[in-house]
Amino acid sequence: MPKMGITFALAKGRILQQTMPLLEQAGLVPSEDVLTTRKLMVDGPVVNGCPVRFLIIRAADVCTYVMQGAADMGIVGRDILLESRPDVFSPLDLEIGRCRLCIAGPEALVRQGSPKRGSRIRVATKYDYLTEQYYRSQGLQSEVIHLYGSMELAPLVGMAERIVDVVETGSTLKANGLIEEATLFDISSRLIVNPASSVTRSDMIKPLIARLREAVVAQRTHRSEK
Ligand code: PRP
Repeated sequence: MPKMGITFALAKGRILQQTMPLLEQAGLVPSEDVLTTRKLMVDGPVVNGCPVRFLIIRAADVCTYVMQGAADMGIVGRDILLESRPDVFSPLDLEIGRCRLCIAGPEALVRQGSPKRGSRIRVATKYDYLTEQYYRSQGLQSEVIHLYGSMELAPLVGMAERIVDVVETGSTLKANGLIEEATLFDISSRLIVNPASSVTRSDMIKPLIARLREAVVAQRTHRSEK
């Protein structure tokens, strides 16, 4: 009897391009090009008699699918894990999607130094929890202005004094006259697993994690040889 399949949630966007070589290395190749297809669910290979299928969804939704058990496992950035604190296991750093979460602001404002203790700073971000936590730890009050993207615009139109957002190359900050004030933490993509699946489907999940772990090492070696 064929085994019940494993569902693997992949995040759309920039990160998907870096995910594909890793999946290929692990022998987990989707049946069609997930970078171009409009399909949201794509078949994958059969591993040890168990079919694998992929969901192609928004990065912010990967945790929800995995937490609800609609996906057994998924790939998501550390930033999203720390912001939404989902009830999932995170057994593996995939060493892709490297960037950092930063506070940034207009150059002139940042050069004035840290705002006085007790003063209130308007911060545009989609990382409400992490932003409030950081400012509280600094003894500063923040007013979070929640945005879904293009945070860099908010200081330019006077809607915020700072932004908290991911920075990879720094070119978006530069193009908008902003500079980094502080780095909150480094980010890379993580494998996440539904806690119930990791118990009831461990016969399938464990070999998949092992394959991905080997692929991470192979890709690391490949990068260091370049
Ligand atoms: C992300 C992020 C920054 C930019 C940083 O946005 O929000 O705007 O990338 O990258 P850089 O340091 O290499 O310039 P993305 O383009 O992913 O779109 P988003 O605004 O929808 O998040």
